[in-house]
Amino acid sequence: MPVTVVIGSQWGDEGKGKIVDLLSEDIEIVARYQGGANAGHTICWGDKTFVLHLVPSGIFHQGVTCVIGNGVVIDPVAVMEEIRTIQELGYDVEGRLFISHNAHLIMPYHKRIEQAREQARNSGAIGTTGRGIGPSYVDKFARTGIRVVDLLDRDVLRKKLTHSIEEKNAILKGVYGAEELDVDEIIEEYVEFDRLIDPYVTNTSEYLCKALKKGKHVLAEGAQGSLLDVDFGTYPYVTSSHPTAGGACTGLGIPPTEINRVIGIVKAYSTRVGNGPFPTELEDEVGEQLRKVGQEFGATTGRPRRCGWLDLVALRYTSMINGFTDLAITKLDVLSGHETLKVGTHYAYDDKVTTSFPAEVQTLERVSPRYTTLPGWDEDIVGVSHFEELPQAARDYLGYISHELDVGISMISTGPKRSQTIVVEPAGALT
Ligand code: GDP
Ligand code: IMO
Ligand code: MG
Repeated sequence: MPVTVVIGSQWGDEGKGKIVDLLSEDIEIVARYQGGANAGHTICWGDKTFVLHLVPSGIFHQGVTCVIGNGVVIDPVAVMEEIRTIQELGYDVEGRLFISHNAHLIMPYHKRIEQAREQARNSGAIGTTGRGIGPSYVDKFARTGIRVVDLLDRDVLRKKLTHSIEEKNAILKGVYGAEELDVDEIIEEYVEFDRLIDPYVTNTSEYLCKALKKGKHVLAEGAQGSLLDVDFGTYPYVTSSHPTAGGACTGLGIPPTEINRVIGIVKAYSTRVGNGPFPTELEDEVGEQLRKVGQEFGATTGRPRRCGWLDLVALRYTSMINGFTDLAITKLDVLSGHETLKVGTHYAYDDKVTTSFPAEVQTLERVSPRYTTLPGWDEDIVGVSHFEELPQAARDYLGYISHELDVGISMISTGPKRSQTIVVEPAGALT
């Protein structure tokens, strides 16, 4: 059995956690391939709600093995804390969670540098989650990073940490005039992680490739969203990794030829947390209503999410670069109660009208979207689990998205819980 990749098609928070959790019912391995504790993936089952930041969203299915791949940047404090809370809920984690020996670590100095850099940017700040993601990836690519495997050798860790902290202190003090960090204090804290993390550490690429050879089915869980991709997103207002499909191969060490399904998770409207261009943003009472009904507050930072209409220019672009085989439309229930719904179809700027997503942020900041208006619906559709029970206008809205993107819809989410989902079989058969 091959690999299915689940990818956010917008700016994150599309409901990836819910869909991965749901798909985990029929899957053996769930693997996170990029990002870090900047992610907040919400899982709701029974009367419980849990937000996962690093551990893959299959963990609440006892038969699923979870993998944190080499492409993820791991905050050892955050991952051990998350493991502990999952165990407290009564789930086994040891023996079911594997962490790549090659994954890079997030250290306190990464967060400190990020904070200093964001402050220095003033109004140009990215609005990061403050989890040290960018600076950790910088060290990885500068070939000065510290990896999970280094935690297992105290002498190596001491040496590498001393070198890194001295360098970062010089930057903190010299460039930003910020407070320096205490080398001994950090070493003392992090040498303790050898025994804590050891039971989870393995060569996850080898584990996954062997599992694939044996016919196991792997679900690769993306974090963030395609428009936050460091190459394809709204740079510089992006994250520092590749949430897009290629990231699954480099972030897990699996061959691209194993991937046979790429599910695009599409929220039925748009949201964005942090700064950066957002062409279909609604800074009025409609946007306020979406935020209120959709409970659009960050799962990691609690920040209010910016809200707006669905943007087909952006979605055509992310569908193109990821090669979505099918779509999961989430939060359709949040759109109830609007007389009409708008969908962005083109961007206009200067005297041009385009259906292409502009590559530069300067253009994106000044485009004005052209909209198509579709009829809305009043009915409460929370929890609807059969397509034919949806109001006609909701079915038409879905049909329009699928037709415009030329991709079939395989799942429609009508609430945060597992059961609040319409599974379309076969994918695309919206009748
Ligand atoms: P992720 O980062 O993509 O996993 O998404 P988040 O967990 O950050 O944000 C999605 C939010 O919407 C969470 O609070 C989910 O519980 C919730 N959610 C997911 N699907 C639905 C849905 O279909 N309807 C509603 N009303 N809420 C949903
Ligand atoms: P999930 O996986 C939404 C945003 C931040 C900021 C930018 C860079 O839950 O969908 P970073 O801390 O990564 O350097 O911040 O990216 N961001 C997210 N927005 N959902 C996420 O993850 C995000 N992870 C990062 O708000 O704009
Ligand atoms: Mg989230």
